[in-house]
Amino acid sequence: MAHPNSDIIPTVDGLAYGGDYNPEQWPREVWDEDVRLMREAGVNLVSVNIFAWAGINPGPGVWDFERLDAIMDLLAEGGVKADLATSTASPPPWFSQRHPETLPVDAEGRRLNYGARAEYCPHAPVFQAAVVEMATRLAERYADHPALAMWHVGNEYYRWCYCDAAADAFRVWLEERHGDLDGLNRAWGTTFWSQTFTDWSQVLPPRISAETPSPGHVLDWQRFGSDALLKLFRSEADAIARRSGKPITTNLMVTGNFSRLDYHRWGEHVTGPGRLVATDHYLIPEHDDDIEAPAQVAFGADASRGLAGGSPWLLMEQSTNSSAWRGGYFAKQPGDQLRHSLSYVARGSEGAMYFQWRASRYGTERWHSSMITHGGTDSKVWREVVEFGGWLKRLAEVKGSTVVSRAAILLDFESAWAAATPGQPSADMATYPEIRRWHAALWRKGVTTDLVNPEWDLNGYEYVFAPHLYVLESDANLRAYVESGGTLVVGPYSGIVDRDDHVHEGLPGALRDLIGVRVEEFCPLPKGATITLDDGTEGHTWSEAAHPTTAEVVASFTDYPATGAIFHRHLGKGQIWYLSTRPTDLATFLTNIGLQSDTPETLELVTRRHEDGRTYLFAINHGQTPTPIPAEGQNLLTGTPWTRTDHLQPGASAVIRIA
Ligand code: GAL
Ligand code: ZN
Repeated sequence: MAHPNSDIIPTVDGLAYGGDYNPEQWPREVWDEDVRLMREAGVNLVSVNIFAWAGINPGPGVWDFERLDAIMDLLAEGGVKADLATSTASPPPWFSQRHPETLPVDAEGRRLNYGARAEYCPHAPVFQAAVVEMATRLAERYADHPALAMWHVGNEYYRWCYCDAAADAFRVWLEERHGDLDGLNRAWGTTFWSQTFTDWSQVLPPRISAETPSPGHVLDWQRFGSDALLKLFRSEADAIARRSGKPITTNLMVTGNFSRLDYHRWGEHVTGPGRLVATDHYLIPEHDDDIEAPAQVAFGADASRGLAGGSPWLLMEQSTNSSAWRGGYFAKQPGDQLRHSLSYVARGSEGAMYFQWRASRYGTERWHSSMITHGGTDSKVWREVVEFGGWLKRLAEVKGSTVVSRAAILLDFESAWAAATPGQPSADMATYPEIRRWHAALWRKGVTTDLVNPEWDLNGYEYVFAPHLYVLESDANLRAYVESGGTLVVGPYSGIVDRDDHVHEGLPGALRDLIGVRVEEFCPLPKGATITLDDGTEGHTWSEAAHPTTAEVVASFTDYPATGAIFHRHLGKGQIWYLSTRPTDLATFLTNIGLQSDTPETLELVTRRHEDGRTYLFAINHGQTPTPIPAEGQNLLTGTPWTRTDHLQPGASAVIRIA
């Protein structure tokens, strides 16, 4: 893969380090102390002005840049660069009060009140105009400011609205997608339950109705919502790009089930010249209780790299400890902050940023962790913040290198949405948790895995996994990959429907020929139940009566449906595995297909490489035993040589420039 974006933040020296900085919450004296501490920690980039609309534009037609000027000047003097936000993620009360039509309406028709943040309707013309005006004014004022490194448009786009303006925009979008009303009727299958439209005015957002909504309707609404927010982002980004050559980004969310927007469509607009992918990633222990924290970190990082098409990217937000929205506090163990941050860098981030620099004394997030906590600088958190700043300085030369991956997991946002539409044969066949489970199993084997779109170029990967690909139009890309020598692993209930969620003829639809298996019927399992295979392993959630056509049966179910459960087939220079259940023990399955590992599960090894061949091995020991790292070179973290017999101590990390 080509990596056109190898220098994503040119004006930041080396790797980026810092966080959200909200000086507007503090008196002026604290600002000087902030800059002094930033320098102590090696902070070289902070995100400013994210939630500061009320200060810049305190009333209709009133503009006041005095405070932001002072902040930008202060940063410039202190040698800290700014990731300057447009502040459009949170309109102030005067704006919402004056323009109530910009407040979002929920699916039950209730117009929501202001008082928190992100209270806007993406389809309200007044709001659309206001954000472009804001971006324009900021770009005109700060394009040449010495502190400016990059632009941060909005913040974590996710707002949906069901109002009449949304309905109008939805109809326009649908007409573009489906051509005319006949096309729409066909796509949504409106002959079902007699829902045929005879006029565009009958078409509405999927507002609450008396019965389960149509899956086609729900799916298009998802696509439309994602596209509408992308359009909103682009309106600001374009206004800035006309006035400034600095990179432009917005922070995408890769925490947990990050399925709200089609980030592969977004990727085209946040990658490429002048743009960069930035993501926010938080650990949610209670959501992923069987996935250990370092594997969650790796997932967030690998997902981010996927959105950047393999190019370097930037971790825009993470936390030193807890996130306020978790509903409970958790403290990271000593050293976790260092290991987690290093893992993001190992996996392609050009630095590590946090939410936030200094803990707020008030507001909803007053108990959110930060780089400077309420506990002050005589603390574990601060000492590790300073230590990591030192590491990043010593790692400056890895900037611009890319990650070497052996495997890929296929991720299709539309497919995940479609699999979650109502009326599925099993409510438990979720896409993301299954993708995360496979990713974690590969992580424990020490396999660096990319998360990529099924339509992208897959050549070069030894293994490609499709744990759940419910929507698939055609097998062409996967077939080409296998024929040229790849190993493809396909999970059950894949290839089933087309992009309109119409069931393909003959199960499993688009994949039937490629995998060489015919499915007679689905036999989902009750929640928590398992099914036994004759090789002694088990499956859960799902089984199907599956018969080989050109594949060979490797293992069968011992009980009903008593058919093949694991299938294998050679094709061209490659091979395909098909699973008609979700294996309980993925580690054993991976070993069986050739992915055995001789390093401990808790040892993380990732390689970054420059185009000129300079190679770095990141080694992180999350475990309790000293482990040998058989490499030869220089450990950049300590500046000392590394030899083949050296051991990495429990909790320790090394970044070895390979000799
Ligand atoms: C992010 C958001 C930040 C802050 C943070 C707390 O989702 O962008 O503004 O709220 O969460 O974890
Ligand atoms: Zn609206």
